Amino acid sequence: MAKNTTMKLFDVYPLNNITITKALGSNVWDENGTKYLDMYGGHAVISIGHTHPHWVKRIEEQLHKIAFYSNSIQIPIQRQLAEKLGQVSGKEDYQLFLCNSGAEANENALKLASFYNNRKKIIAFNKSFHGRTSLAVAATDNPKIVAPVNETDNVIFLPYNDEAALEQCFAEQGNEISSVILEAIQGVGGIVVASKSFLQKIRSLCNQYNAVFIADSVQDGYGRSGQFFAHDYAGTTADIYTMAKGMGNGFPIGGILIAPHIQPKHGMLGTTFGGNHLACAAALAVLEVMDEESLIEQAKETGAYLLSRLLTIEGIENVRGRGLMIGFDVPEDIKELRKNLLNNSHIFTGEAKPNVIRLLPSLAITKDQVDQFLEALEKEIAAIKYQVKVGEVSIA
Ligand SMILES: Cc1ncc(COP(=O)(O)O)c(C=O)c1O
Repeated sequence: MAKNTTMKLFDVYPLNNITITKALGSNVWDENGTKYLDMYGGHAVISIGHTHPHWVKRIEEQLHKIAFYSNSIQIPIQRQLAEKLGQVSGKEDYQLFLCNSGAEANENALKLASFYNNRKKIIAFNKSFHGRTSLAVAATDNPKIVAPVNETDNVIFLPYNDEAALEQCFAEQGNEISSVILEAIQGVGGIVVASKSFLQKIRSLCNQYNAVFIADSVQDGYGRSGQFFAHDYAGTTADIYTMAKGMGNGFPIGGILIAPHIQPKHGMLGTTFGGNHLACAAALAVLEVMDEESLIEQAKETGAYLLSRLLTIEGIENVRGRGLMIGFDVPEDIKELRKNLLNNSHIFTGEAKPNVIRLLPSLAITKDQVDQFLEALEKEIAAIKYQVKVGEVSIA
């Protein structure tokens, strides 16, 4: 007899009641044809714009040739990707290892660091987010998502941007520290920007103690900050950069860039799906478009414009960020703002608990679209403050 039940999805996401069926550039459309402006980039993933024609074409063409074969054969498109990534990021002397997600990239980076210096301790920072797999989640400062099996004494959490605390930790345990992992701009933590001197201090202490500086660039990397890697704005470099979100513009791919002094050994790292033909085609298309359309420069300019305009808007607080990774605090009296932006003005934004709106649009967002957002933001703030519906009454 047929069973009277259907399989349910494992309910872990609080969902908006919106079904998106179409996307182009910085716009998406729901099943009823309502158009939305995407200031969230599908969680910082959309780098070159939704369904960019070059990206679609490259994936399509690859699909007709070969989508996947294991890492046991020559895969020239991986080398093409490495070459292009070296050129666009300026890290030509680094080595590329490909995987599938941000957590996996961090997992591999932390493991590789430990192989490199044969040590166990990791320094991570308060409010950090590095992913949900075993070591990545252990280095994430959110006890609610750390299962008992993930708990370890190997991770030391320090306050972000606190040079004295970092120095003291190295002075006490420097010879046990394998790696320091840090987001240059904390994303889930609420858009917190590392100071130049803090980044420089990490670099110099890692040099002094032979520890590995891991730049978690999963969210703030790939041009989002207005330069390829946000960490490099202090004039320093990291030993390993981890990447994912913007890398495939929505096609799942992650990777790590590894400095030349860290040497590979066969079998040290590995993956079934990482670096498959189709993912490499998507990632190559992203870099080609970034290069062709000067999107990193554009992100820097559009981001500076957005930030400067936000600073003049009354009602929101603590506007901060770099490039197109911007946040601001939403005071209690307008706490409905994000919901209203979505439901009334049809604009997606990101959030960080408890009261931060995060803006993570495509690097290709236009100034006109930014103006559209700013206008809606002002209207929605006024509407909440004066308890009127947008468009109903002019606000004197
Ligand atoms: C800084 C940072 N690192 C790592 C991750 C984990 O990436 P993924 O969800 O692809 O595993 C995220 C995801 O939000 C992130 O923001």
